[in-house]
Amino acid sequence: MMTLLHIDSSARQTGSVTRDLSARIADQLSQGGTEVIRRDISAGFPVLSEDWVSANFTPATERTDAQKAILAASDALVEELKAADTIVIGLPIYNFSVPAAVKTWIDLVARAGLTFKYTENGPEGLLTGKRAIIAVASGGTKAGSEIDFATTYMRHFLGFIGITDVSFVSADQMAIDADAALQGANQQIEALAA
Ligand SMILES: Cc1cc2nc3c(=O)[nH]c(=O)nc-3n(C[C@H](O)[C@H](O)[C@H](O)COP(=O)(O)O)c2cc1C
Repeated sequence: MMTLLHIDSSARQTGSVTRDLSARIADQLSQGGTEVIRRDISAGFPVLSEDWVSANFTPATERTDAQKAILAASDALVEELKAADTIVIGLPIYNFSVPAAVKTWIDLVARAGLTFKYTENGPEGLLTGKRAIIAVASGGTKAGSEIDFATTYMRHFLGFIGITDVSFVSADQMAIDADAALQGANQQIEALAA
């Protein structure tokens, strides 16, 4: 059975372009029997603390109960990523980059030994064999342009943890021509192979 992890990050619960696109992508890619895990990360997570960093760098077998508790939320996010065959992420461009909530999620799922490991040849991603589709929306920033630090960052980060099959559905530059942006995104959704 396929497992699809559907993540949204827009601060907007209503009128959100990325939520609409990500929902339609998740629908299109779910076959009968697909298990869908929903995760709304728009509220973000607490930023990393000294205790969190210390717990993370303590070998798993030596962690105290308090350190295990500190890492529990991160562990849960990593587990659902590991469980997913397909990951759909709604990603607004905020201030030329990803929403801060997405950055807090990234900090929690980048775990040495769980999602990547260090080797003689440098870091190696451990979450291989997965596919990610990212629904992007922006007001004026052109997706993929040199001032778009959101999609380049997401592609790089997901590749770092082993997810190299990453595609984007973009409703970018909505403030310039919303109809054209949405039409383009719809065509990209239709073209997604199941
Ligand atoms: C806090 C904030 C920052 C934004 N920064 C940018 C930006 O840097 N570039 C841009 O093109 N659009 C920017 N926008 C516009 C959003 O990317 C656009 O409204 C998008 O549709 C938001 O996604 P949503 O519809 O899913 O909420 C920003 C919007 C907000 C709320």
